[in-house]
Amino acid sequence: GAVTAATTLVQAVAAAEPAISKEVTILYGSQTGNSHGLANKLSKKLEEQSYQVTLTSMSDFKPNGLKKIENLFIVVSTHGEGEPPDSAIPFYEYLHSKRAPKLEGLRYSVLALGDTSYEFFCQTGKDFDKRLEELGGERITPRVDCDVDFDEPAAEWMGLVLSELGKRSASVAAVASVSTTSANSVTESEFSRSNPFNAEVLENLNLNGRGAQRETRHIELSLEGSNLNYEPGDSLGIYPENHPLLVDDLIAAMGWNGEEIVTVNKNGEQRSLRDALLRYYEITVLTKPLLEQAAQLSPSQELKQLLEKGREQELRTYLAERDLLDLVTDYSFAGVSAREFISILRKIPARLYSIASSPKAYPEEVHLTVRSVRYEAHGRKRYGVCSVQLAERVEPGDTLPVFVQHNPSFKLPENPDTPIIMIGPGTGVAPFRAFLGEREETGATGKNWLFYGDQHFATDFLYQVEWQRWLKDGVLSRMDVAFSRDTDKKVYVQHRMLEKSREVYEWLQEGAVVYVCGDEKKMAHDVHAALAAILEQEGGLSPEQAAEYLTRMQQEKRYQRDVY
Ligand code: 2AM
Repeated sequence: GAVTAATTLVQAVAAAEPAISKEVTILYGSQTGNSHGLANKLSKKLEEQSYQVTLTSMSDFKPNGLKKIENLFIVVSTHGEGEPPDSAIPFYEYLHSKRAPKLEGLRYSVLALGDTSYEFFCQTGKDFDKRLEELGGERITPRVDCDVDFDEPAAEWMGLVLSELGKRSASVAAVASVSTTSANSVTESEFSRSNPFNAEVLENLNLNGRGAQRETRHIELSLEGSNLNYEPGDSLGIYPENHPLLVDDLIAAMGWNGEEIVTVNKNGEQRSLRDALLRYYEITVLTKPLLEQAAQLSPSQELKQLLEKGREQELRTYLAERDLLDLVTDYSFAGVSAREFISILRKIPARLYSIASSPKAYPEEVHLTVRSVRYEAHGRKRYGVCSVQLAERVEPGDTLPVFVQHNPSFKLPENPDTPIIMIGPGTGVAPFRAFLGEREETGATGKNWLFYGDQHFATDFLYQVEWQRWLKDGVLSRMDVAFSRDTDKKVYVQHRMLEKSREVYEWLQEGAVVYVCGDEKKMAHDVHAALAAILEQEGGLSPEQAAEYLTRMQQEKRYQRDVY
């Protein structure tokens, strides 16, 4: 059995000559947890080859230790418009400042995560890679930039890292390392991003009231039999299906035959073209690399010209607003076969949603809060892939391919007495339903304050009955709401915070942890400014001091964001 095997290994290791170990540091900067997961994987592989690995989040890394590191591997994602993830900002800024030490003798390599549909693809990884070289480091294997489908390129990078490191440290004895937890580890689920679980849909409700201008679905899924575990703050990934109308229009526009059989992956799996376009390929997002490849297929001179120097702004706009149906309508692809065309498409990426349930309150279930994205542009109705699938084409009894995406940087405080302030307008409120459910189930005594907002009180007050019950039961200590379109002047969550600045400041003084979830560009930015204003006004801090205070809060995990 497993125990005997482990014992034998322990004895074997104990009997072996002491290994000459090589020290390796892995630093990760994660926004959604992918970099963290990959850093973990590299760490395990290195440990198997008896390297001594220090695995640290950039947010916890003490930069004065940098000079002592001999082997450094960085796994970092890029966020928004080419920015580092929140947790990586202080380290990023330190490394790029004059204070950064010379790093001669350092061996390093960078794995960069990103998304080719963003202009500043993998920018943070590129920056780290360049800066480490400037500081004197030796790049032992080239940086690898990953698109959303990162498993394969990441595995290749890890293989190169292991072999290069192996060449340089041939003296390392190959002794299996035995981790102390291996004998009694918890059952790990076989399901993951690359092997999703087919979860049954238990509920699918519209949370908005009659006459509402928007639609928000409350989805309940069963995780029974999956062994999938999650904590409040984690996200659920769903592999969606494209809109059948869009697929049919695309097939018609190209004059293809939907029943034609095509190969969808390297394993040679075969599907009908229609099924492949529904479930395997991304057809709603255009990227620059895709357009470059499409220009090779197309006889159109205009498409080639759009990619030329000097037309960047036009290209940017085109990429941001159009989909594949636009592309094949706007430019000629006469005579291009379906097989040729799909060979340039990206695999459809999973959509991530912040989980809205506490697993303690709803064992073996997971709940989501999903707003349907629908709009009209360039003469055609446009639909958010996953949100509209959930709204229109999914009902109880159906299954969806899902996986859990852990998010260590959005977690309830360990101490149940710690007060928390939650700011989550719109669907940003989802994880706070999970937080409150968890704090209720565990009897946590810390105070809880929720700032919530949406457009109209009458139709858009998501989960109103649940907040009211939690207020009555004392689980929720305070709740302030901002309905932006019920009054002449817009009121937003940050206005409510400013109105209560004295109390917010007092909670911060008591050590409250602040959580922000929802829209990044506008809301999270404005809420950040409101927090700074409160520190200045109530704490007498200068703008610089307030900024430093918030940075420190982030480093100490007292200010956590899940924004998108
Ligand atoms: P609006 O649509 O009336 O502008 C959830 O979407 C809520 O967030 C809505 O009430 C929306 O208001 C609001 N919202 C929009 N921009 C915001 C911002 N910069 N700060 C805070 N809330 C915002």
